Amino acid sequence: MERDTILILDFGGQYKQLIARRVRECQVYSEILPYTTPLETLRAMAPRGIILTGGPSSVYDPASPTCDPELFSLGVPVLGICYGSQLMAHLLGGRVQPAQVSEYGRTELFVDGSDSLLLRDVPQSTVCWMSHTDRIVALPAGFRVTAHTDDCPVAAMEDPDRRLYATQFHPEVEHTPQGADMLRRFVRDVCGCRGDWRMASFVEEQIVALRKRVGKGRVLLALSGGVDSSVTAALLSRAVGKQLVCVFVDHGLMRKDEGAQVKAVFGPEGGFDLNYVHVDAKERFYDALRGVSDPEAKRRIIGEQFVRVFEETAKGLGTVAYLAQGTIYPDVVESGAGSGGATIKSHHNVGGLPKDMGFEGVVEPLRMLFKDEVRALGTELGLPRELLYRQPFPGPGLGVRIMGAVTPEKVRIVQEADAIFQEELRRFNVDTGKGQFFAALTDMRSVGVMGDHRTYDCAVVLRAVLTSDFMTATAARLPYELLEAAMNRIVNTVPGVNRVLYDLTSKPPATIELE
Ligand code: XMP
Repeated sequence: MERDTILILDFGGQYKQLIARRVRECQVYSEILPYTTPLETLRAMAPRGIILTGGPSSVYDPASPTCDPELFSLGVPVLGICYGSQLMAHLLGGRVQPAQVSEYGRTELFVDGSDSLLLRDVPQSTVCWMSHTDRIVALPAGFRVTAHTDDCPVAAMEDPDRRLYATQFHPEVEHTPQGADMLRRFVRDVCGCRGDWRMASFVEEQIVALRKRVGKGRVLLALSGGVDSSVTAALLSRAVGKQLVCVFVDHGLMRKDEGAQVKAVFGPEGGFDLNYVHVDAKERFYDALRGVSDPEAKRRIIGEQFVRVFEETAKGLGTVAYLAQGTIYPDVVESGAGSGGATIKSHHNVGGLPKDMGFEGVVEPLRMLFKDEVRALGTELGLPRELLYRQPFPGPGLGVRIMGAVTPEKVRIVQEADAIFQEELRRFNVDTGKGQFFAALTDMRSVGVMGDHRTYDCAVVLRAVLTSDFMTATAARLPYELLEAAMNRIVNTVPGVNRVLYDLTSKPPATIELE
C-alpha cells in the first residue's frame, strides 16, 4: 500500500519544521520541499495533501516566491498558512493588500464557519497566533470566510468543494491552542490520511536513505554520550554497521561514571554493531587547563583540545568519507538565529568540528527532529531510558561547573557531590526532565569545624532550575528535606567539602551554569 504523504511547500517560513512535526504527530509522513519544486514532481509524488508555509514576502511583489496556479487544480487538498493563504487568494483571483494594522502575537479569533471541516468543534471565540502585515481583502470565487479577527476580515477561508483551505494565522504554533486539532482535521479528515506512520517507519526510511547516501564509505561520529549523538550512533549502526566508527573522547570532565556508561552501551560489550574507539584524554585536558581560570579561556581550550584529539584519532583510522553529527532541529534554528546577539557564553559544542578535515560530506540524520522525537526514536532503537532522559550537559562539561582553575581533585569533588545530589533527587521523585539539576564547585574556601578540627575547605553549590527553553529559568522549590539530605551526605562523604549552598537565583540575571 502506498504511504500517505503530506507535502509542505516552503516559502521561507520560520515554522516549516513545526508544521512537519504537527503532521508527524498525526502519524502521517511529511516532506518539506522548496516552493520551486516543479508541478510535475509534486504530482508524481502523489501526495494526499499539500501545505503552503508562511514566508516573509508580499504576494504582490513581482519578485516574491510563488507556485504554479495549477497546483490548486490537482484535485489534492491544499492548506495555505499565512503567506501561503495570501498566495492562494492571489493566484485564484482574490486580492491581498497591506493591512492598516499589522497583527503580531496572540489574537482573538472568531469562527464564522462552525460547519467547516477544519474548524469544526473550535469554540466560536478562541485565540490564534498572528504574524502578518498583508491581508486578504477580496476572496477568490468559490471561497467563503470561516473566521475573522478584529483587524483581519479573512482570518480563515475555504472552498470545500475544491478542498482548498487557508488560515492567515499559524495553526502549527502552541500559541494557537486549537491549531494542532485544525491541522489534524486537515490531514486526517480533509486529506483522508490513515495515520499509520510511526517512528518505526522513520527508522526504516532513514536506514534506506543513509545506506544510499553513504554507500560503502566509512562514517565517523564524535560520540559525547548525550542524547543526540547517542541516537545518531544507534541509527547509523542499524544502517551501516561496522562502517560506522564512533569516537568517544573522555576529556575527564564528564559526570561520575559517564565514560563507563557510554562504553557499556556502545563498546564491544554493548548491543550495537559499530566500531567503538574510546580515547582517554583526561591528562591532556587537565594539562592544557592547568592554572586557567577564565571561563571563556577554559571553553576555548576544551574546544580546541577536543578537535585536536579527534583529528589525531581520525587520522589514525585511514580513509573516512563522512562525518556524522547529532544536529537536531532546534540546533539548526539556534545557529541561524544566533547572529547579532551579544555573546554571553560561547556555547562550545564538543560536536562542533571543523569542516576542513577532508570529509566528502556531513551526515545529520536527526536534522528534522525535535528533542522529544529524538527520544522516541532512541526508544525505538533500543537505547536505555537513563541515557535518553539524561539531563542536558554542556559540551565543556565540568570545566564550566568548577569555578576557577580545574584540577583532577576538584573534578572528583564535583562528580561525587553531583552523584549524591542526583540520587537524592531520584529518592524524592523529582522530575528532572523539567530543567537542569546539578552540583557545581565554587572557588570559595571557608572555615569549618569537623570533629575537633578546624577545616578550611571548598563550598559546593547545588543548582536546580526549571526551564523548557534554557533561555530563562527559575530556581526549583526543592523539598527542604531533600536539600538537607544532600547537604549531609556531601559534607560527610566528600573529602574537601565543608559547606553546601543552594543557588536560588533565576536566569536572568544569573545564568544556569556558574560560568
Ligand atoms: P547558561 O549557563 O548559558 O546555559 O544559562 C544554558 C544552557 O546551555 C548549556 N551550556 C553550554 N552548552 N557548551 C554547551 O554545549 C557550553 O559552553 C555551554 N554553556 C552553557 C547549559 O548547560 C544550559 O543547558
